[in-house]
Amino acid sequence: MRKTLALLTLCAATTAVAEEERRPLEQLVGTCAACHGQRGDEALQPSYPILAGQHQSYLEQALRQYRSGERNNAIMNGQAANLSDADIRALAAYYARQESALYTPAYPNQARRADD
Ligand code: HEC
Repeated sequence: MRKTLALLTLCAATTAVAEEERRPLEQLVGTCAACHGQRGDEALQPSYPILAGQHQSYLEQALRQYRSGERNNAIMNGQAANLSDADIRALAAYYARQESALYTPAYPNQARRADD
Protein backbone atom coordinates (compact mmCIF):
# COMPACT_ATOMS: atom_id res chain seq x y z
CA MET A 1 0.00 0.00 0.00
CA ARG A 2 2.78 2.40 0.94
CA LYS A 3 4.59 1.53 -2.28
CA THR A 4 1.45 2.16 -4.33
CA LEU A 5 0.95 5.51 -2.65
CA ALA A 6 4.55 6.51 -3.27
CA LEU A 7 4.23 5.51 -6.92
CA LEU A 8 1.00 7.46 -7.32
CA THR A 9 2.60 10.53 -5.76
CA LEU A 10 5.55 10.21 -8.10
CA CYS A 11 3.27 9.94 -11.16
CA ALA A 12 1.29 12.98 -10.09
CA ALA A 13 4.47 15.00 -9.61
CA THR A 14 5.83 13.96 -13.02
CA THR A 15 2.58 14.95 -14.72
CA ALA A 16 2.59 18.34 -13.04
CA VAL A 17 6.10 19.04 -14.29
CA ALA A 18 5.24 17.95 -17.84
CA GLU A 19 2.21 20.25 -17.88
CA GLU A 20 4.30 23.21 -16.83
CA GLU A 21 6.93 22.65 -19.51
CA ARG A 22 6.83 25.53 -21.90
CA ARG A 23 8.66 26.19 -25.12
CA PRO A 24 10.11 29.69 -25.62
CA LEU A 25 7.40 32.15 -26.63
CA GLU A 26 9.22 33.24 -29.83
CA GLN A 27 9.35 29.62 -30.96
CA LEU A 28 5.64 29.09 -30.29
CA VAL A 29 4.57 32.33 -31.92
CA GLY A 30 6.80 31.65 -34.93
CA THR A 31 4.59 28.73 -35.94
CA CYS A 32 1.35 30.63 -35.50
CA ALA A 33 2.72 33.65 -37.40
CA ALA A 34 2.51 31.78 -40.70
CA CYS A 35 -1.25 32.22 -40.61
CA HIS A 36 -2.10 34.74 -37.90
CA GLY A 37 0.81 37.17 -38.39
CA GLN A 38 3.68 37.82 -35.96
CA ARG A 39 1.49 39.71 -33.48
CA GLY A 40 -1.73 37.89 -34.35
CA ASP A 41 -3.09 41.05 -35.93
CA GLU A 42 -3.09 39.87 -39.53
CA ALA A 43 -5.28 37.35 -41.26
CA LEU A 44 -3.10 36.03 -44.04
CA GLN A 45 -6.24 34.48 -45.52
CA PRO A 46 -9.80 35.58 -44.81
CA SER A 47 -10.50 32.32 -42.94
CA TYR A 48 -7.65 32.92 -40.44
CA PRO A 49 -9.04 34.88 -37.48
CA ILE A 50 -7.35 37.88 -35.86
CA LEU A 51 -6.06 36.90 -32.43
CA ALA A 52 -4.61 40.23 -31.27
CA GLY A 53 -6.80 42.01 -28.74
CA GLN A 54 -9.13 39.09 -28.07
CA HIS A 55 -9.81 38.22 -24.43
CA GLN A 56 -7.10 36.06 -22.88
CA SER A 57 -9.65 33.68 -21.35
CA TYR A 58 -11.37 33.25 -24.73
CA LEU A 59 -8.10 32.47 -26.54
CA GLU A 60 -7.11 30.05 -23.79
CA GLN A 61 -10.42 28.25 -23.98
CA ALA A 62 -10.30 28.07 -27.79
CA LEU A 63 -6.81 26.50 -27.69
CA ARG A 64 -7.81 23.98 -25.02
CA GLN A 65 -10.86 23.03 -27.06
CA TYR A 66 -8.82 22.61 -30.26
CA ARG A 67 -6.36 20.46 -28.31
CA SER A 68 -9.09 18.21 -26.88
CA GLY A 69 -11.03 18.09 -30.15
CA GLU A 70 -14.09 19.69 -28.52
CA ARG A 71 -13.71 22.46 -31.08
CA ASN A 72 -13.24 20.87 -34.44
CA ASN A 73 -10.99 22.36 -37.10
CA ALA A 74 -8.53 20.24 -39.07
CA ILE A 75 -5.83 22.93 -39.08
CA MET A 76 -6.11 24.12 -35.49
CA ASN A 77 -6.58 20.65 -33.97
CA GLY A 78 -3.13 19.82 -35.37
CA GLN A 79 -1.62 23.15 -34.27
CA ALA A 80 -2.84 22.78 -30.68
CA ALA A 81 -2.22 19.05 -30.28
CA ASN A 82 1.23 19.39 -28.69
CA LEU A 83 0.75 22.58 -26.71
CA SER A 84 1.16 22.24 -22.93
CA ASP A 85 -1.12 24.12 -20.54
CA ALA A 86 1.73 26.56 -19.93
CA ASP A 87 2.20 27.08 -23.71
CA ILE A 88 -1.51 27.84 -24.04
CA ARG A 89 -1.48 30.32 -21.16
CA ALA A 90 1.59 32.10 -22.58
CA LEU A 91 0.17 32.28 -26.13
CA ALA A 92 -3.22 33.54 -24.93
CA ALA A 93 -1.57 36.24 -22.79
CA TYR A 94 0.70 37.25 -25.69
CA TYR A 95 -2.09 37.74 -28.23
CA ALA A 96 -4.45 39.36 -25.73
CA ARG A 97 -1.94 42.14 -25.01
CA GLN A 98 -1.24 43.01 -28.67
CA GLU A 99 -2.63 46.21 -30.15
CA SER A 100 -5.46 45.51 -32.51
CA ALA A 101 -8.29 47.16 -34.37
CA LEU A 102 -10.34 44.27 -33.03
CA TYR A 103 -11.72 44.91 -29.58
CA THR A 104 -14.37 43.21 -27.50
CA PRO A 105 -15.45 45.30 -24.51
CA ALA A 106 -15.98 43.44 -21.26
CA TYR A 107 -19.37 45.14 -20.89
CA PRO A 108 -21.54 46.76 -23.54
CA ASN A 109 -20.87 50.49 -23.94
CA GLN A 110 -17.72 50.32 -21.83
CA ALA A 111 -15.01 52.59 -23.19
CA ARG A 112 -11.59 51.09 -23.81
CA ARG A 113 -9.38 51.68 -20.79
CA ALA A 114 -6.20 53.65 -21.46
CA ASP A 115 -4.06 50.87 -19.97
CA ASP A 116 -5.75 48.06 -21.99
C1 HEC B 1 -1.95 26.86 -41.13
C2 HEC B 1 -2.59 28.05 -40.61
C3 HEC B 1 -2.69 28.21 -39.09
C4 HEC B 1 -1.65 28.12 -38.18
C5 HEC B 1 -0.18 27.78 -38.43
C6 HEC B 1 -2.25 28.44 -36.89
N1 HEC B 1 -3.57 28.72 -37.02
FE1 HEC B 1 -4.85 29.28 -35.54
N2 HEC B 1 -6.40 29.28 -36.84
C7 HEC B 1 -6.30 28.95 -38.19
C8 HEC B 1 -7.65 28.85 -38.75
C9 HEC B 1 -8.01 28.48 -40.19
C10 HEC B 1 -8.54 29.14 -37.68
C11 HEC B 1 -10.08 29.13 -37.72
C12 HEC B 1 -10.53 27.76 -37.24
C13 HEC B 1 -11.99 27.65 -36.95
O1 HEC B 1 -12.81 28.03 -37.80
O2 HEC B 1 -12.32 27.18 -35.84
C14 HEC B 1 -7.71 29.41 -36.52
C15 HEC B 1 -8.23 29.75 -35.28
C16 HEC B 1 -7.47 30.01 -34.16
C17 HEC B 1 -8.00 30.46 -32.88
C18 HEC B 1 -9.47 30.76 -32.57
C19 HEC B 1 -9.71 32.24 -32.78
C20 HEC B 1 -11.16 32.66 -32.61
O3 HEC B 1 -11.43 33.84 -32.86
O4 HEC B 1 -12.00 31.84 -32.24
C21 HEC B 1 -6.95 30.59 -32.04
C22 HEC B 1 -7.00 31.04 -30.59
C23 HEC B 1 -5.75 30.24 -32.79
N3 HEC B 1 -6.11 29.91 -34.07
C24 HEC B 1 -4.48 30.25 -32.25
C25 HEC B 1 -3.37 29.75 -32.94
C26 HEC B 1 -2.08 29.56 -32.31
C27 HEC B 1 -1.76 29.93 -30.87
C28 HEC B 1 -1.26 29.03 -33.26
C29 HEC B 1 0.16 28.58 -33.10
C30 HEC B 1 0.41 27.56 -32.09
C31 HEC B 1 -2.04 28.91 -34.49
N4 HEC B 1 -3.31 29.35 -34.24
C32 HEC B 1 -1.54 28.44 -35.68
C33 HEC B 1 -5.13 28.77 -38.91
C34 HEC B 1 -3.89 28.58 -38.35
